[in-house]
Amino acid sequence: MNVQIVFLVLVTILPASILCQSDADTWYKGGNFYQIYPRSFKDNNNDGIGDLKGITSKLEYLKEIGIDGVWLSPIYKSPMKDFGYDISDFTQIQPEYGTMKDFEALAAKCKRLGIRLILDFVPNHTSDQHEWFIKSVNKEPGYENFFYWHPGKVNATTGERSPPSNWLSSFRYSAWEWNEKRKQYYLHQFTIEQPDLNYREPAVVAKMKEVLVYWLDKGVSGFRVDTIPSLFEVAPDENGNIPDEPPSGKCNDPDDPCYLSHIYTYDQNETYGIVYEWRELLEDYRKQHGGDQLILMTEAYSELPYILRYYGDGKLNGSQIPFNFHLLRNTNKTSDVFEFKRLIEEFLGGVPAGSEANWVLGNHDQKRLASRLGEQRVDLFNILLKTLPGISITYQGEEIGMTDVIISWEDSVDPPACNSNETTYYAVSRDPARTPFQWDDSRNAGFNWFKKPWLPISTNYKCVNVKTQRAQPRSHLNNYKRLIKLRKEASLGNASYESALFGEIYTYKRQSGSVKPIVVALNFGKTWETINLSAKYNLPEALKVVVASIESQYTEGQIVNGTRLTVPNDIGLVLTTL
Ligand code: NOJ
Repeated sequence: MNVQIVFLVLVTILPASILCQSDADTWYKGGNFYQIYPRSFKDNNNDGIGDLKGITSKLEYLKEIGIDGVWLSPIYKSPMKDFGYDISDFTQIQPEYGTMKDFEALAAKCKRLGIRLILDFVPNHTSDQHEWFIKSVNKEPGYENFFYWHPGKVNATTGERSPPSNWLSSFRYSAWEWNEKRKQYYLHQFTIEQPDLNYREPAVVAKMKEVLVYWLDKGVSGFRVDTIPSLFEVAPDENGNIPDEPPSGKCNDPDDPCYLSHIYTYDQNETYGIVYEWRELLEDYRKQHGGDQLILMTEAYSELPYILRYYGDGKLNGSQIPFNFHLLRNTNKTSDVFEFKRLIEEFLGGVPAGSEANWVLGNHDQKRLASRLGEQRVDLFNILLKTLPGISITYQGEEIGMTDVIISWEDSVDPPACNSNETTYYAVSRDPARTPFQWDDSRNAGFNWFKKPWLPISTNYKCVNVKTQRAQPRSHLNNYKRLIKLRKEASLGNASYESALFGEIYTYKRQSGSVKPIVVALNFGKTWETINLSAKYNLPEALKVVVASIESQYTEGQIVNGTRLTVPNDIGLVLTTL
């Protein structure tokens, strides 16, 4: 029997699950992930708020652009004090977003289209309307310790009571709130209405695992885990005292969270163990139920060594995608190429063997990529996101270059903005990045057509929208699609990475086996430069343009001289051999 016949026989007799084994394990590697903020994606019932049916109606768009996995910000029942991150029932759908039936239809369509569905998992806190909190306030048996309760400090002379420590909420002011009914303080790291769950209480750990299983049974492919470094706080000492956090020296406003070094409320050691337990739960679930690998994406604005611990500890596995906020946190319009390259290579160098890097340039909590890094550099950054080794994660609208919308103080609804004041709110407001998605040039940008959207639509929607850009050969959207196609064709997931700087032009070559290499040139500088890429990367003189920033003079398919390649400022180019 020759080799071909053996292969044919195997293909006919082996079950599909065995043949597809490797893909089932590694589907997320090199993946193109996309974040949907449901409130602002597509409003199907015209009430001004995005919904599940709206998302379902737009899944073909995600398929068209090449997305492999989509994560949804919370869709659960919520009083919406923090727009869904304050959850009053982890297993119910928020009525203004739709019903469980709508969710099931969405999940089924994702499956049909081959798009993996990832849900937001918010383990750190509940809403103060959650039945667990209400029961805990009433000290119902079994629920007494579900949250972090403390009697506070009592002044021996005056008898006056004050919060147990100086800890601050991420949204300003004390992280402790007095509860008159229970006559104790509870901890809240975010709004007052988001009490912190107590992970030293085994029943909490068990209940939250039930939540994961509930959604796994509904067929989701994994979870984006919210604010994981806040999960644990230091426990009171033997006398019941809680230590104050020291000043950070980073700002002078004692109500602002930047005033303190969060050494007792962030990045605590116990956190990692819980993440590893959740990963184990996903693996056990898969063993029992079959199917493809289930993933965790963890959200942590921590220093690099802490981020890397989420991957695992060498023995236990953790999150497959610990969000890499290294660029997001440390760069802005004034960052230079050296900074970008250093941050990128630091992360690449830290990723443990067998794991993958990931790249994030925006989300619903940050100013949008185009506004933060420059509208003229949208393509440059999308090229970077899609051609670096590893996984790429796009926040809705980055693919068309959506920009922030300035929202007045009076119209602001985001809690950290509302907790500040008229002069300072803009720096902390997340409303500007949450305005509705721009689908077309019709009324309300096609987000809906009737009721006023919950946040205003950008005035640039007539040009910056999917419909218009789809029809233009040179558009951010079409470049984005080309990049995903290229990623798949050039097998960039496991390609080698070799880089060099030419002044302020960041270049790198990526190659996977015998597949044609690609070479990327990104001009972060302020002037046009001519460089010899061919000599540097041992490539022929003639190179072909695969993707070029829309502002450049280059067009896709154009043959250029790689020994004398001119790269204008702010322009990104992807080239290959003929
Ligand atoms: C991080 C989420 O991304 C943010 O939107 C939310 O306000 C906080 N966690 C609290 O859940």
